[in-house]
Amino acid sequence: MSKPLIVVTGKNGQLGWEILQIADSLKESFDFLFTGREDLDLSRPESIAPFFVKIKPDYFVNCAAYTAVDKAEQDNELAYKTNAESVGLIAQNCAKIHAKLITISTDYVFDGNGVSPYTTDTKTRPINYYGYSKWMGEQLALSNCAETVVIRTSWVYSEHGNNFVKTMLRLMNDRPELNVVSDQIGSPTSAADLALTIIKMIESIELGRAHYGIYHYSNAGVISWYDFAIAIAKEGGKNCKIHPIPSSAYPTPAKRPGYSVMDCSKLVRDYGIELSNWEIGLKNCIAKLLSN
Ligand SMILES: NC(=O)c1ccc[n+]([C@@H]2O[C@H](COP(=O)([O-])OP(=O)(O)OC[C@H]3O[C@@H](n4cnc5c(N)ncnc54)[C@H](OP(=O)(O)O)[C@@H]3O)[C@@H](O)[C@H]2O)c1
Repeated sequence: MSKPLIVVTGKNGQLGWEILQIADSLKESFDFLFTGREDLDLSRPESIAPFFVKIKPDYFVNCAAYTAVDKAEQDNELAYKTNAESVGLIAQNCAKIHAKLITISTDYVFDGNGVSPYTTDTKTRPINYYGYSKWMGEQLALSNCAETVVIRTSWVYSEHGNNFVKTMLRLMNDRPELNVVSDQIGSPTSAADLALTIIKMIESIELGRAHYGIYHYSNAGVISWYDFAIAIAKEGGKNCKIHPIPSSAYPTPAKRPGYSVMDCSKLVRDYGIELSNWEIGLKNCIAKLLSN
């Protein structure tokens, strides 16, 4: 009997790469096709339909995105095509062949003015263009394919790719002191944990326990970037003095939400997936980085 085919975009990004790392252990149950921009370029919406002529996935996991948050303020067209228009077309094509779509979104769909964790019903109001393009992608995915799961996640890091953990470790090697913002609050997410969560969701759907719509997923715990930097220094064995600063002292082209914490209980309830603590994900990631 043929196995379900899972197409995963963004194979060179943090999340796509983490799914690639576990794919081999799942080969009894699933076939995988991992794509990079050379196989399917999301900045060219016209390339989506021809891809689906050749490939008929059972699951389409969209980990590719235009993720340069500051550059997106200028690069509106490229961000929109990649994060919104192409995602809508992927959804349309998935619907035609009854493929299930899992597409990743962001805490940046919220304005950051909340004081308690955002549920999937909390009103969205992106405050930068990246957030806007991802928010449009969510709506285009959900409106074009009924069998869509949108997973909003936050503060993603991995041993692979570019992220806060690796940047901090590098800077901590070079500098005796660092300033890190302490008034942006959120929940870090290990891309390795998110990769496993996506697979568990697919396994659940395969067993007939499908739930579609918007879900939130991050590791458990609420911290600031400053707290995160302190933990990275401790776990990485770095002797660097870290000073808390307000966001106003570190201006960026794109505004960041102040409060970014998401309530992930819907995913826990519907899919029976437990959240692991952010400290465990960080420990695992730094252990892998130090062993390389
Ligand atoms: N990183 C975070 O903190 C964070 C937070 C919240 C949500 N998210 C969301 O989580 C998902 C995964 O993020 P990530 O951290 O894995 O991102 P990432 O490391 O920046 O990887 C993004 C991937 O998308 C690919 N890509 C970009 N433009 C493309 C295009 N036009 N066509 C095809 N592929 C393209 C990139 O390809 P190249 O390698 O060739 O550049 C890269 O492999 C994204 O949807 C992102 O918006 C991320």
